[in-house]
Amino acid sequence: MKYFLLLLCCAAMASCKQNKPSSDVAQHSADVHSFSRPDEAFVTHLNLSLQVNFDQKVIEGKATWEIENPSGADTIILDTKGLEISRVSLSDSSSNAEFELGPEDKFLGRALKVKIDKDTRQLTVWYTTSPEAVALQWLSPQQTAGKKQPFLFTQSQAILARSWIPCQDSPGIRFSYNAHVTVPKNLMALMSAENPVARNDSGVYSFTQPKKIPAYLMALAAGDLEFKAIDERTGVYAEPGSLDAAAWEFADMGKMVSAAEKLYGPYQWGRYDVIVLPPSFPFGGMENPMLTFVTPTVIAGDRSLVSLIAHELAHSWSGNLVTNATWDDFWLNEGFTVYFERRIVEDVYGKEEGKMQEVLGYEALKETLEDIGHSHPDTRLHLDLKGRDPDEGMTDIAYEKGYFFLRTIEEAVGRTKMDAFLKKYFTEHAFKSLTTEQFVAYLNTNLLKGDETLAAKVNLKKWIYEPGLPAGMPAIGSANFHYIDSVLAGWKKDVRPEGLKSHIRSANEQLYFIKRLPQELSVSDMKRIDAEFGFTQSGNAELNAAWFIHAIRHHYTAANPQIEAFLIRVGRRKFQIPLYTEMAKTPEGKSWAKKVYKQARPNYHSVSFTTIDNMLGD
Ligand code: BES
Ligand code: ZN
Repeated sequence: MKYFLLLLCCAAMASCKQNKPSSDVAQHSADVHSFSRPDEAFVTHLNLSLQVNFDQKVIEGKATWEIENPSGADTIILDTKGLEISRVSLSDSSSNAEFELGPEDKFLGRALKVKIDKDTRQLTVWYTTSPEAVALQWLSPQQTAGKKQPFLFTQSQAILARSWIPCQDSPGIRFSYNAHVTVPKNLMALMSAENPVARNDSGVYSFTQPKKIPAYLMALAAGDLEFKAIDERTGVYAEPGSLDAAAWEFADMGKMVSAAEKLYGPYQWGRYDVIVLPPSFPFGGMENPMLTFVTPTVIAGDRSLVSLIAHELAHSWSGNLVTNATWDDFWLNEGFTVYFERRIVEDVYGKEEGKMQEVLGYEALKETLEDIGHSHPDTRLHLDLKGRDPDEGMTDIAYEKGYFFLRTIEEAVGRTKMDAFLKKYFTEHAFKSLTTEQFVAYLNTNLLKGDETLAAKVNLKKWIYEPGLPAGMPAIGSANFHYIDSVLAGWKKDVRPEGLKSHIRSANEQLYFIKRLPQELSVSDMKRIDAEFGFTQSGNAELNAAWFIHAIRHHYTAANPQIEAFLIRVGRRKFQIPLYTEMAKTPEGKSWAKKVYKQARPNYHSVSFTTIDNMLGD
């Protein structure tokens, strides 16, 4: 009887463990965007087997998870979205395990609850993805550069991994993985792992990611791909026709890795390669470990946009090594990364380049604050995304307000202390996930150390928990922009100097010029600027997108064919959303937007068309 009571007691303790703030269960933070309960049972390693079927647009998968169950729970919960689960078994693969799929949540998908016992250490799920899987973009040969072979790529951040792998899809839960992927014989497959450098005849590729990563860093690409080395540690994958251009554009990758290591400690992931995706890739870049995914729109032909590589590389520390524990802490990933990115840029390309990019970052931040509203809760660094799609929190606030917060700390303590602090932060939290609160505690203990004058300068409560921008921003500016400021001041007084282009030469300067142009511009001003700079025809997508905003606003219709072609070709959400938003401001513009969108939509990734459907829907 006594024994029975003891057992009952233990069971009761185990079941309420998730509410207990005890240190041994505190490694996993509560995450409102995952059904999993890692404080009860969690995954540690994945053995994945995938068959990629381009005809059906599905992946058939077998995911074997190694698990730990410190609480002796009787259930483990995984996240799924649109997955058809055909069978689940525990370590003994011959017998079926009991499982159940919970009700569908619009954003989160369905919980997969599998019955386990306290000794279960392994579980296998056989499943098929849906043709509408949100993480997967299936491209026809026509949508690729080479036009001969189809292409598939995944995008798992923020909570899309669950649409192609049943997993505990929270950035606070980490696992290593192995994978075997079968693709059509003429394609090469790549993952966020150790990768092949050549195609093989079998179409079967094997991968190992020995380091523990969160599910949002699971990634796969398959297509007509080739590899070109840049140096011993870095290289580029691209379709054959764009490989040389990509390798030329990204020639400084090795230097960037060395610069980053010099700042914040050794690169922990072995190789650093980049894959150039087809133009429908919805982001500029995605920091998949060992293999950054990038948009081809960074290939401007003059290396002017390669700070994007510095950004994704920097995530190898801020994000992939030290990870935001939940999407409410997203600024810990992106704010630190923008800070680190600009330090790399400064090191490789000089102080002035860093300063110009900082000013451009501030321009973007001001625009975002105007759009969202300075007192909107989403302008706080620490977000509250409960019940919402985490994508809603992925604005320039995390990036640029996060950046300027770190710059404020840097100003207050000086670079030497800042760098020592960051290096220690990355070292001590390597392969761990961290909440904003944990970061604040770490900052207080290791940098502010009870110094009240310092704490007042850093003003962390205002920066992190309050909306808008605190007073006392670091002073910024670039001498390279002074001339442009004076031209634009004169512009308002109807002064139109000749020969602007010989003074406003670099992509940064031209971007600054476009962004700062007056709100009111005549069509003849637009014509004049375009005749001089050729922004409509530029091969630089950043310049195109910024210029097209003015073209739409000021009815500079000469640019319309290029605007349409750009929107049909480029799937990068950062460009699409502002352009469609600008078009939709007038009734005629909105019907134009709808017409273009109808043609463009088949080329867009789900993360893009979900937003634009809402925007243009009647
Ligand atoms: N990790 C992000 C991309 C992302 C964020 C994907 C949130 C899904 C959800 C990546 O590192 C990033 O920030 N990309 C930027 C480029 C960068 C230079 C600011 C982008 O895609 O524009
Ligand atoms: Zn980023």
